[in-house]
Amino acid sequence: MRLVLAGFGVVGQSFAQLVKEKTPDLAAKYGFVPRVVAIIDSSGAVMDEKGLDVARVVTKKRKTGKVGQTSGLGAREIIARTEADVLIETTPTDFKSGEPGLGHIKSAFISKKHVVTCNKGPLGIAFQALQELARHNSVQFRYSGAVGGGTPILDFGKTCSTGDDVTRVTGILNGTCNFILTKMERERVSFADALAEAQREGYAERDPTLDINGYDSAVKLVIMANHLGLSKATVREVNVRGIQDVSAEKAWAAAEKGEAIRLIAVADKSGLSVQPSTIARDDPLCVTGTYNAVKFHCKDSGDKVIVGRGAGGPETASSLLRDLIEIRGSMSEATEQ
Ligand SMILES: NC(=O)c1ccc[n+]([C@@H]2O[C@H](COP(=O)([O-])OP(=O)(O)OC[C@H]3O[C@@H](n4cnc5c(N)ncnc54)[C@H](OP(=O)(O)O)[C@@H]3O)[C@@H](O)[C@H]2O)c1
Repeated sequence: MRLVLAGFGVVGQSFAQLVKEKTPDLAAKYGFVPRVVAIIDSSGAVMDEKGLDVARVVTKKRKTGKVGQTSGLGAREIIARTEADVLIETTPTDFKSGEPGLGHIKSAFISKKHVVTCNKGPLGIAFQALQELARHNSVQFRYSGAVGGGTPILDFGKTCSTGDDVTRVTGILNGTCNFILTKMERERVSFADALAEAQREGYAERDPTLDINGYDSAVKLVIMANHLGLSKATVREVNVRGIQDVSAEKAWAAAEKGEAIRLIAVADKSGLSVQPSTIARDDPLCVTGTYNAVKFHCKDSGDKVIVGRGAGGPETASSLLRDLIEIRGSMSEATEQ
């Protein structure tokens, strides 16, 4: 199975290393040997149709900051022209344009390649259009790492909706915000001090705006709602309020009443919203620290909650691999029929 990797940062490199490490296992258990034939970063690309030595590319990237030479071709052209089966798309998320991932994914679909991505931008902006383009080109589109990192939130939601109706989804979808709110209530520190601690610990980006203002949660909510058929909304239609105005006093007051303030994302037939809300501390959704949690409200079987870490390079890479294995499984089924 020939792979093109677009994006070779934290997640892309973790994925390349995971695939290398697991190759004997993948051959034995699933009957396929992944071969990385192209790797693209922001400054160029490296290609070999026989398969790249990914360990060497990682070493080169770490030493020089680049995977290869500038090829003269743009990433979209490389994706379209390379003989490969699957694009693994891990470039940075852009919530406004969805680029560069959106163009990469379209280019892969049009050239009949399956796509696995954890890039939320293209999904938040064009979920339905991308699904349609994948269907039109008879290729598969998987994105389980886009929500919850390595925690299989989307797959769990799909299982909950099989033979039942998921009528509402309620989630804590941003580990940075949850860390800050937990820190404020437990240690009675201000928002600014809790944010500074999150940055020192490496949980928050240097520019944490999209976490704090709720947009990261909103885009994940959009992906979940579309995935489960609850809504066809894009990120522009979510009613969003972040945690920037949650005062330390409010967080402490909630804690004293056995409650907690969390950034809660809700999707149901009436719409999508993200806002700081008070929930009971003994609600299974009320996770602490950097954890994510999602509650699926099911019409017949009741509420179900999934909890796990929502980010991390190796964790997210494991989701990409899971998606790749699923694609391989359905490719084999298709050839058997
Ligand atoms: N990190 C996590 O825990 C996590 C979890 C879930 C989802 N995600 C999502 O996964 C994606 C990757 O995250 P990351 O942490 O790996 O980011 P990252 O470390 O910043 O890596 C991004 C990679 O994309 C490359 N890139 C940027 N623009 C490009 C372009 N126009 N064409 C080709 N390559 C380009 C960068 O190239 P250079 O190396 O040359 O800069 C870099 O290699 C993001 O969309 C993120 O939201 C991440």
